Amino acid sequence: MSKLFRLKPLDQLFKETEDSDKSLKRSLTAVSLIALGIGAIIGAGLFVRTADAAANNAGPAVTIGFILAGIGCALAGLCYAEFASMIPISGSAYTYSYATMGEMVAWIIGWDLILEYALGAATVSIAWSEYLNKLLGYFDLSIPYEWSHSPFDVGMNGEQGIMNIPALIIVGLLTLLLIRGSRESSLVNSIIVLTKVTIVILFIVFGWSFISESNHTPFIPEATTYTDAQGVDHHFGGIMGILAAAGVVFFAFIGFDAVSTAAQETKNPKKAMPIGILGSLVICTVLYILFSYVLTGVGSVEDFRTYGKEASVTYAIQTYMTGYDWLAKLVTVAILAGFSSVILVMLYGQSRVFYSMSRDGLVPKIFSETHSKFKTPYKSNILFFLFVGIFACFVPDDIVGDMTSIGTLFAFMLVSAGVLIMRKTHPEIPRQFKTPWVPVVPILGILVCGAMVYGLGWANWYRLLAWLAIGFVIYFSYSIRKSKLNK
Ligand code: ALA
Repeated sequence: MSKLFRLKPLDQLFKETEDSDKSLKRSLTAVSLIALGIGAIIGAGLFVRTADAAANNAGPAVTIGFILAGIGCALAGLCYAEFASMIPISGSAYTYSYATMGEMVAWIIGWDLILEYALGAATVSIAWSEYLNKLLGYFDLSIPYEWSHSPFDVGMNGEQGIMNIPALIIVGLLTLLLIRGSRESSLVNSIIVLTKVTIVILFIVFGWSFISESNHTPFIPEATTYTDAQGVDHHFGGIMGILAAAGVVFFAFIGFDAVSTAAQETKNPKKAMPIGILGSLVICTVLYILFSYVLTGVGSVEDFRTYGKEASVTYAIQTYMTGYDWLAKLVTVAILAGFSSVILVMLYGQSRVFYSMSRDGLVPKIFSETHSKFKTPYKSNILFFLFVGIFACFVPDDIVGDMTSIGTLFAFMLVSAGVLIMRKTHPEIPRQFKTPWVPVVPILGILVCGAMVYGLGWANWYRLLAWLAIGFVIYFSYSIRKSKLNK
């Protein structure tokens, strides 16, 4: 029993990270943290999942779903920041929880983060494939439906998917970049952030005059159910529809936790951290609300269920915004670049978490073996390429997307609970940043994230439970014995 709650000693943690972190300079400011956050946040959640949620769950009320998801993220984000600032090293929720809440909780969080990072990367790569086809369309080219969709996807003309090759290729290319040790420079990140924010604003400004009142009426559809093309039932309309939509578009906020991992590279983290986390969240939430309002006003629910199901933003511009073909082209190119950077951040995050877990002995050594020349965990990168690639090729985007959402929501609930527990059990550990209004904020964080988990429905709960069950089997048959803390 005591093994389950053994803590990784803090001095060991500091010693291990000393070498890798020696080179880290405190150079980031609140503004650079906000840029880091927005770079990881705006992606497929906005440009693909918004239309999915409107079509399957809430119609125009997906806008309210964004407000709810934003509130849940802000609450959990405040808890994340305290957790991160207690242990002033770079890392993730896995690292923090190992030193504070014990091995088993750390394992659950680390295992759960695979859903966030690996499946998140798969979701965005599938979205990338949709927009690639739009781009090729400008040159009268296209990748046949069967080779750009999973076997569970059926097209408007009855075409059946086989595998999603473009999604596999983009994951492969970005894995190669990671193996070579390339990470985005802050200059490239700033350019991508500027481009993403610019196209979002351009769409809002130019799309506003094309909003058709009929698409927004009624704003909250009456509660019913909708069965999609794959025969899956969804809550549509009413409160349940909005909760489900919030769970779906929650995907669009994932990535802001990346900000909290940069604590050690930040000047004056006490002030800069909350500004970075909350600042990027507030900016994105405002943009998301306006964007989803315009998108659901320009295109109808019927569009997003049929011909506008894929690459929905480009579809809406091409179909309804006469004279704005240039915007459709610009959006398509910018989205492809933006998605690539999100996939890179996610694949990097995944290898980093498994690198730490492997060094702790909880997963095999292969995940921390580094390349002699590039000094990157290349074997881990290759294994995750295979794992992410299988999902990208063979599973539809809404299934991987919802699994990413539910896994991340669950991790956020654990982190919020962690703050409550740590205030009781370890009040003495200094915290550079303290979550305000404890216990109200963490409890509300758990409740709001829990409501979105509830909204995502039983199919996703079962998938999460199955994933956690696999994790427990591995933990009790392998990790608990192999843990370095045994020695
Ligand atoms: N928030 C990121 C996206 O929407 C994961 O693509």
